[in-house]
Amino acid sequence: MTRPALFQPLELRGLTLPNRAWVPPMCQYSVDAQDGVPTQWHLLNYGSFAIGGFGLIVAEATAVDAVGRISPFDTGLWNDQQVDAWRTVTDAVHSLGGRIAVQLGHAGRKASTNRWWPGHRSGVVPAEEGGWQPVGPTTQPGDGAEFVGETVHALTEPEILAIIDDFAAAARRAVQAGFDAIEIHSAHGYLLHQFYSPLSNTRTDGWGGDLDGRLRLPVEVARAVRGAIPDQMPLLARLSVTDWREDGWTAADSVELTRRFKAVGVDLLDASSGGNSAARIPIGPGYQADLAAQVRAGADIPVSTVGMIWEPELAERLIAEGRTDAVMVGRGALRDSNWPLRAAHELGLPNEEAPWQPQRFRGAWS
Ligand SMILES: Cc1cc2nc3c(=O)[nH]c(=O)nc-3n(C[C@H](O)[C@H](O)[C@H](O)COP(=O)(O)O)c2cc1C
Repeated sequence: MTRPALFQPLELRGLTLPNRAWVPPMCQYSVDAQDGVPTQWHLLNYGSFAIGGFGLIVAEATAVDAVGRISPFDTGLWNDQQVDAWRTVTDAVHSLGGRIAVQLGHAGRKASTNRWWPGHRSGVVPAEEGGWQPVGPTTQPGDGAEFVGETVHALTEPEILAIIDDFAAAARRAVQAGFDAIEIHSAHGYLLHQFYSPLSNTRTDGWGGDLDGRLRLPVEVARAVRGAIPDQMPLLARLSVTDWREDGWTAADSVELTRRFKAVGVDLLDASSGGNSAARIPIGPGYQADLAAQVRAGADIPVSTVGMIWEPELAERLIAEGRTDAVMVGRGALRDSNWPLRAAHELGLPNEEAPWQPQRFRGAWS
């Protein structure tokens, strides 16, 4: 029997990923001290995905500066204490044979929101509870009832340049912290998406206006991050491939941005969608796979797809059909951190070739 496509290795620059079942970045909102320093929860959470055999774990949206956090409880990589704490996480994952990337991000106008936990109200965190004023391409607040009335600081050019430097500095720290790869968060309505989407970037200077102006910040961030990390380290970028609106950002625009990303050294495009403005999204199993396939074909670059790919058979088919190079399993991994082991069993991979930890091997299906 030929080895399932899901369990074929994938090479990105100097990194070999043992399989194509990956964990997407998922905010944990677990930094109770509000200092951006990962905690024991992060060690256990990412460790559990490594035990479960995922080929790549992308750690949650990690802010490049304090103002760029989505919530006060996000992780960061803007100081050395954060580097040391992340190092314990990456060491643990490596001790289990795993590979771990970090998603570097800036929330822009969608910063300073509450953690998305049961029993917590949604919306912005007021200043008296530790919230702060968000920044964005303009003073226009985030799209959604929770942002109504919020004041946003429109970034000046020197502030934009400082954010590019912050991305590069955070990438350098990520290397020190032992991460195997970096992912740039340019999706879901956060800062870089706010700049490339015509729905949120109405600037008239060199950082807005036409397509070239709107693509400038994400491309300059990717260029700066690439310049800050070793040649052999893969660089991924997550994009909202479409705003799902006729007046918004389109898949054709994404192909153009991805070509420019590729030209400055991005190795894989992680295709997601939406998040910047209200839209009707046709969700269902694998609903973003066509977007990934369009970018893959249009920009000639490896891609990953994500979105309700919870059944191994679907994951296998998407890769085998050449629509994507890897799948990311989000909520499916929260439900079952051993998802790759079940997938291996269901796809007929012999137990000895499945990513079992030896301590767990007697739990393999017989
Ligand atoms: C708890 C949670 C936190 C998330 N945090 C992030 C994040 O930090 N960065 C990001 O790009 N996407 C984030 N997402 C989106 C996921 O990465 C993924 O794209 C989405 O859940 C769709 O995949 P799924 O249907 O397999 O869950 C989050 C999703 C969940 C459920």
